[in-house]
Amino acid sequence: MTADTTAINRRMNRFDGHHQVWLFGYGSLIYKADFPYIERRPASIRHWTRRFWQGSHDHRGTPDAPGRVVTLVAEPDAVCAGMAYLIAPRTFSQLDAREKNGYLRLATEFSLDDGRHVEGLVYIATAGNAAFLGPAGEREIARQIAASHGPSGPNRDYLMQLAAALRALGTQDAHVFAIERELVALIGH
Ligand code: SIN
Repeated sequence: MTADTTAINRRMNRFDGHHQVWLFGYGSLIYKADFPYIERRPASIRHWTRRFWQGSHDHRGTPDAPGRVVTLVAEPDAVCAGMAYLIAPRTFSQLDAREKNGYLRLATEFSLDDGRHVEGLVYIATAGNAAFLGPAGEREIARQIAASHGPSGPNRDYLMQLAAALRALGTQDAHVFAIERELVALIGH
């Protein structure tokens, strides 16, 4: 699959005719809401876990020196905390451009913090995409993050902002926090 998923995502018609669609964010979409939304609230998704396994060619690295960003990986009974946004369907063109480096829209269910269960969309970068990097040790991931920069800024800012946002949500994420500790050990702070 090409690394640019914009055209594939544009053909995704699951919510055609809907006036509002819920989006689940678990990475930068938790802390960087630079798009219009109607409602925003903490949420969680079951059977998925957050992993720094996706390469970033366009935001936190380059094609020659990719950074590492998060995707969701299937894991039975896992619960991943994030942020849900109720958005107008036209907003997806902006989100498709932002998430174009390997992420595909997936229609799935998730839970809002007020107890509602909704069907909505989540952007997931699966193992088949051209920018996928896959598993590595936490120290190795931290080293790659420490060394990577892209058009959206240093990769370390993505990690630190995500870790801070997860703390603000009151969630424990052993993978993200272990990589954060490794990064701090490498570069200080
Ligand atoms: C997300 O935040 O939901 C997708 C991954 C990212 O943009 O960091």
